[in-house]
Amino acid sequence: MFRFLFLFYSIVIIAGCAVKAQEDSAQNKVEELLAQMTLEEKIGQMNQYSSFYDVTGPAPGAGYQKDRYEHVKNGLVGSMLNVRGAEQVRKMQEVAVENSRLGIPLIFGFDVIHGFKTTMPVPIAEAASWDMDAVEQSARIAAVEASAAGLNWTFAPMVDICRDARWGRLMEGAGEDPFLGSAVAAARVKGFQGDNLAAPNTIAACTKHFAAYGFAEAGKDYNTADIGLSTLYNVVLPPFKATVDAGVQTFMNSFNELNGIPATGDVFLQRDILKGEWGFNGFIVSDWGSITEMLYHGFASDGKHASEIAANAGSDMDMESHLYLKHLKELVDEGKVDNEHIDDAVKRILTVKHNLGLFDDPYKYCDVTREKNVTMSKEHLDASLDIAKKSIVLLKNENNMLPLSKSGKKIAVIGQLADNKNSPLGNWRLAADDNTAVSVIEGLGEYGNEISHAQGVKFFEGQEAFIHELKINNEDESGIPEAVELAKSSDVVILVLGEHGYMTGEGRSRAHIDLPGKQQKLMEEVYAANSNVVLVLMNGRPLDLDWANGNIPAIVEAWHLGTQSGHAIAQVLYGDYNPSGKLPMTFPKNGGQIPIYYNYKNTGRPGPSGLVFWSHYIDETNMPLYPFGHGLSYTTYKYSDLQVNVDSLSGVVNVSVEVANTGDMDGDEVVQLYIRDKVASVTRPVRELKGFEKVTISAGSSKTIKFKLTKDQLGFYNNQGKFVTEPGQFDVMVGWSSKDGVVSNFTLGDNFQF
Ligand code: GLC
Repeated sequence: MFRFLFLFYSIVIIAGCAVKAQEDSAQNKVEELLAQMTLEEKIGQMNQYSSFYDVTGPAPGAGYQKDRYEHVKNGLVGSMLNVRGAEQVRKMQEVAVENSRLGIPLIFGFDVIHGFKTTMPVPIAEAASWDMDAVEQSARIAAVEASAAGLNWTFAPMVDICRDARWGRLMEGAGEDPFLGSAVAAARVKGFQGDNLAAPNTIAACTKHFAAYGFAEAGKDYNTADIGLSTLYNVVLPPFKATVDAGVQTFMNSFNELNGIPATGDVFLQRDILKGEWGFNGFIVSDWGSITEMLYHGFASDGKHASEIAANAGSDMDMESHLYLKHLKELVDEGKVDNEHIDDAVKRILTVKHNLGLFDDPYKYCDVTREKNVTMSKEHLDASLDIAKKSIVLLKNENNMLPLSKSGKKIAVIGQLADNKNSPLGNWRLAADDNTAVSVIEGLGEYGNEISHAQGVKFFEGQEAFIHELKINNEDESGIPEAVELAKSSDVVILVLGEHGYMTGEGRSRAHIDLPGKQQKLMEEVYAANSNVVLVLMNGRPLDLDWANGNIPAIVEAWHLGTQSGHAIAQVLYGDYNPSGKLPMTFPKNGGQIPIYYNYKNTGRPGPSGLVFWSHYIDETNMPLYPFGHGLSYTTYKYSDLQVNVDSLSGVVNVSVEVANTGDMDGDEVVQLYIRDKVASVTRPVRELKGFEKVTISAGSSKTIKFKLTKDQLGFYNNQGKFVTEPGQFDVMVGWSSKDGVVSNFTLGDNFQF
């Protein structure tokens, strides 16, 4: 035994030394290179240009396009974004490496948000899978395809918590909850970065947008975020911290101001918390032009002042403001920006390039053969289908209308989205080829039954091929009579309604969260003609579905599921996959309830009371339409035997529950654990997700699911940003949504060893 232990610990020590030696050698190489660099060359590393400006931001001035090439050639550019394809990247890399004095390679960034060419479900949909292995695999595949196209850096994961269905960018994140959001964020970082960042099929991840972008007032994009410290520390920051713990290489700051300070110029966020308290040693890139935007915020008087603020606040790289290149040297000469800040920023940038192996081989990502072989491979398409199915949420299934029988039926498929091959790809799919999604009609076509399609209403038109050209046409209802006639003559109606993929994402906030255009009218008239309706939703945000929920017997949330959308939807509708998704975000009953979320505070007047003097509306319920964590199955589950055991000495609360599949179909169930800290020095929510497990339970069998609660789950941040743990009484619920489950409670005495 002794010999084994000696051998084991020797291996651990040797491995640890090897990692340390590797890090030291990287640091030495970076220090050596830094020592050779002029101030101009250092500032060049902090400068990032976009190559195809029209894709993700306003066009830079023509002057810069002309100078762009010269700057790359002279070592005055550290990174490019939006360069596409192994060949293009090689060309651009050659300009930098073969011409500049020190031949420092560029790092190539791109918005690889949900897949690359093989498009995966939009991130909010993937979060609905609650399947972290699938989420990680999705990011892994995206990295394999993106790196084959020459890229080595993605501007993802976006980890912004959001409680406001009006915000267009919630589709890029993981919804309203910090615990689920943290798990998804870490899984995505691991998927992108893999186990070896220097491998040619892994890419550096970028946690964004730091911070509180999802708390834009009124859900209006780029709007002011003004939140309390308890929300900042306990809701907004945890997913960001989870990515630092997962080893993320870069961060991106955000356009918004937080409590009066634009994030790009926020020392507290970037230096005190991220680089200080959390010890983050990667680099921070600004968001597109966000350094310049401090002028519009009224936080900087001119471009030079904005550069000074941003550099001193820890924004290491300037994306498309071009201000660092213009002003930083002068600011250093004037002593307004410390040389140390420049060296720190450049060391961070060079270290990430080193970690990617770019100094060993700047062209390692530029293999056109690999690009051809791996892109849209069968393995990738199968994985896309797998996570798409797992992301679908069954919201309602009255009288078990679903699954549909596979033959002998006349099925009317109604809706403009039903035969659309572009919208299901969602927004933020810059690398995908247009119209490459499997449509609902195509997916259904793989099965029997007689399928007929009617468009019903046209609620969008225009060049769908471009995010700026989609026109939302609200008026055309000329197709309703034909759709109604088809419904009348059919056994079943599948209504495919929702939002076009480009109605979500950046700059796509909506004041109304109803079905756009005349879709509601179409739905009501079709339902009046034939009440056997399955509503399939394709949307990128919670919608107001109150009428549908009150009338339509079966409702399926199918988001924008990517390349394999139609196959995933068909396999769920026909029962070849038993739906297992759970909502990562509350669906309001009425847009007027927004912001509405499950982990709310009790307030001093929780009610209900006979009088009006309690926290409520006089014209609407407090309850959502569908709560966070909601999602049905074709089978049924029974939760029982909730056991809670407080082990004070080891500082662990052990929780277990029995979950039985009482139906006749195997299924995957997301078992969710929530707590409530009844009394604390900072008020705690009425419910907080602190554990979940997605388990497969075959029909007629049951499983015991176990959770451990330790200080990490039982504590919270106080308003000084300190993580505290306090004894006291806790409620615990283990259930199938944030609203439903089996309950118990426990008390932590003063002797509990947190
Ligand atoms: C955008 C987005 C950001 C994206 C960046 C580069 O404006 O805010 O999420 O990564 O520009 O495209």
